[in-house]
Amino acid sequence: MTGEPLRTIYVINGPNLNLLGTRQPEIYGHETLEDIEAICIATCTAQNAKLFFRQSNHEGELVEIIHEARLHASGIVINPAAYTHTSIAIRDALSACDMPIYEVHLSNVHRRETFRHHSYVSGVATGVIAGFGSEGYLAAIKHLLG
Ligand code: DQA
Repeated sequence: MTGEPLRTIYVINGPNLNLLGTRQPEIYGHETLEDIEAICIATCTAQNAKLFFRQSNHEGELVEIIHEARLHASGIVINPAAYTHTSIAIRDALSACDMPIYEVHLSNVHRRETFRHHSYVSGVATGVIAGFGSEGYLAAIKHLLG
């Protein structure tokens, strides 16, 4: 027994990601958000880290989850989904977090519509991963824990 987990990771998911698996599978794949949560849990458990895996369709709630992470997390992985391209509030909340932040997108946003090319979050992120599907979440977690 090694006692309390040394690190706490928050994985935060934005709007419509609760529909993964059935939402545009040709773009986002067939995995559900629960599938992604399961592989994130397995990765964190293997490294004695604690995981909080959250999803909200509401901008203000996402801001509050980030505030919670600010107090408890040692790193954040966030897929802000559509709020990536619109939300100064989410960017400001992340700016207040003194820890590594990885922005993840399942799809390669840069080969999609031009409105997806700009991210309010990338400028305050430690790193950005796009186009690797759920593997992007794992890469970000592994990097945080490595
Ligand atoms: C997304 C890309 C966003 O442009 C889109 O609004 C999403 C998902 C992705 O994971 O590829 O909802 O963040």
